[in-house]
Amino acid sequence: MSYNVFVTCPIPQAGIDLLAVQCAPLDVGPGDRPIAKADLIEGVRGRDGVLCSIGQPIDEEVLAAAGKQCRVFANYGVGVDHIDLPAASRLGIVVTNTPGVLTDATADLAWALLMSAARRVVEGDRLVRSGEWTGWNPMQLRGLDVAGATLGIIGAGRIGTAVGQRSTGFRMKVLYVDQRESPDLDAIGARRVDLSTCLAESDFVSLHTPLTEETCHLISSAELKAMKPSAVLINTARGPVVDEAALVTALKDGVIAAAGLDVYENEPVITAELLALDNAVCLPHLGSATRSTRSRMAEMAAADLLAVLSGREPGHRVVL
Ligand code: DGY
Repeated sequence: MSYNVFVTCPIPQAGIDLLAVQCAPLDVGPGDRPIAKADLIEGVRGRDGVLCSIGQPIDEEVLAAAGKQCRVFANYGVGVDHIDLPAASRLGIVVTNTPGVLTDATADLAWALLMSAARRVVEGDRLVRSGEWTGWNPMQLRGLDVAGATLGIIGAGRIGTAVGQRSTGFRMKVLYVDQRESPDLDAIGARRVDLSTCLAESDFVSLHTPLTEETCHLISSAELKAMKPSAVLINTARGPVVDEAALVTALKDGVIAAAGLDVYENEPVITAELLALDNAVCLPHLGSATRSTRSRMAEMAAADLLAVLSGREPGHRVVL
């Protein structure tokens, strides 16, 4: 049995190799630019399955364009806020994602941002490259202590938990906000608190919630004002969890000290004022971007797509 499959953008070869065994035609979208909506619609038309990715809105029009024979959209990534899940369910299309496999890579990146923002790593690099560094100076680029500080984790799922677990070597006090107790965080002495306590007491606040109606603009000007003026906000979750305009104002006015950001409200567009601020470290959505993680994501998405097409239960079905 051969399946007609569209992969919306190039993915690591491991995933293509898996698909190639059972899929023909197997077409891959452009790699030099994000796929345009019209091309996405053309690409998915008549397919049995689609392997899509974050950053490409999969709305009802796209899902419907695939046609009645289409059984699966396998998402390359864990976040599925870009997919209209109720529409997929109405159309009988299974959606899968890639949880777990990117936990460590994303937690590592949250720490890279935390350390970079605290110790002004990017500013230091810019100074050295500018040729204007005049030598060691007691007053230069003084940052914030990480060891012994308080880390606040908002969203104690897989990634939030992994971020908390990494803090033990820094002898940090850990607070977390979640609807449920996290036995893994409790095991390292973390304390579950409400959002306002977390914001008021943390030196570093790291966001790990999915993007939902409830978490959109979870951090806006009131929440930023509730943080310490010396605090740092880290976002490796989803951009719209933070009100970007409010964040720019807070960083400019010294309401908080710094931010480390991997995600933005309107990716890939970023508020110009944010990019002009020295106290913001800005990365291009690199959370899962290690070679092995990205390969494993490709294998996982491909395996789930093939599972659905061959009538088996996929390993990672997204449930509404
Ligand atoms: C995801 O999988 O949702 C991540 O944001 C990708 O890095």
